[in-house]
Amino acid sequence: MAGRLEGKVAVITGGGSGIGRATTLRFLSEGACVVVADYNPASGEETVSLAKEEGYGDRVLFLRTDVAEEAQVVSALQAAVQRWGRLDCVFNNAGVGGAFGPITHITVEDWDYTFAVLVRGVFLGIKHAARIMKAQGQGGTIINTASIAGLSGGDGPQAYSAAKAAVINLTRATAIELAPFRIRVNAICPGGILTPLIHRGNPEPLRAFLQKFQPWPEAGQPEHIAGVALFLASDDAHFVTGAAIVADGGATACGAFAARHLRDGSPLPMEGLVGVDRGTTGEMPVLRPLSGGE
Ligand SMILES: NC(=O)c1ccc[n+]([C@@H]2O[C@H](COP(=O)([O-])OP(=O)(O)OC[C@H]3O[C@@H](n4cnc5c(N)ncnc54)[C@H](O)[C@@H]3O)[C@@H](O)[C@H]2O)c1
Repeated sequence: MAGRLEGKVAVITGGGSGIGRATTLRFLSEGACVVVADYNPASGEETVSLAKEEGYGDRVLFLRTDVAEEAQVVSALQAAVQRWGRLDCVFNNAGVGGAFGPITHITVEDWDYTFAVLVRGVFLGIKHAARIMKAQGQGGTIINTASIAGLSGGDGPQAYSAAKAAVINLTRATAIELAPFRIRVNAICPGGILTPLIHRGNPEPLRAFLQKFQPWPEAGQPEHIAGVALFLASDDAHFVTGAAIVADGGATACGAFAARHLRDGSPLPMEGLVGVDRGTTGEMPVLRPLSGGE
């Protein structure tokens, strides 16, 4: 039986880890060709090795890409066109935790870094995907990873939360603009997903936490989000555009329930610290303790 993405060509940013890696492997299993575009060359190449082990070696390539840099985003999309002759889908998924700490202590540099990766990266992915897809004249599909943090103020640090809200409305605005060209633009809002971004190589303690984070009785896995991305990339989503699809095991459905769990007496993960989290890019986070009285 033909896969659901047979003959389609996709670029997946952040494809070196977590949600991006799971989506790369899922898209490949459904017949797509995939460019893995990631800042971290080690994890990007590891995704390609995993794909090769599954027998998809001729349909995948890695390109080291910083999504905050326009020329590098263009190169990643052009790599797909040069290798496979077209571009059908771009998954703007790369992300980091970004700036955290009290609003009174967040530096402009850390704020700008957060928005450069999470918002400028998505803007550039949409801009250049749309140029290529419009020129092809056969439509296309653009998927952006937002977060449930973009739907409230309580599910992430301030900059992250604001950036993900921006991704949701950028998705809606560009979906309207690109609909006449049959280019669909949608966002996915994951809840807590057990990826290296949040477990940093030690998933078990976090798995226990995430099992209680939402009503659904198991921790969110990257494969759960890959399934949503597959739907949005496929022709089954023909009439779906401008949507922000929540995939969170019911976390947002129960509102403050999750917040009560978080505040059951255990300290919040970054309590007492200020700095910036550069995710799984291979670059170290900067952590500074908050001094007394701050
Ligand atoms: N894990 C969660 O609980 C969760 C929840 C909601 C939303 N998200 C979002 O899902 C997306 C994927 O996150 P994940 O959990 O799979 O994290 P992850 O750390 O496992 O993977 C993210 C990937 O993005 C790459 N990346 C970071 N900065 C980049 C840049 N400037 N250019 C190119 N690549 C870059 C990293 O190197 C990494 O490979 C992110 O946008 C994140 O904000 C995650």
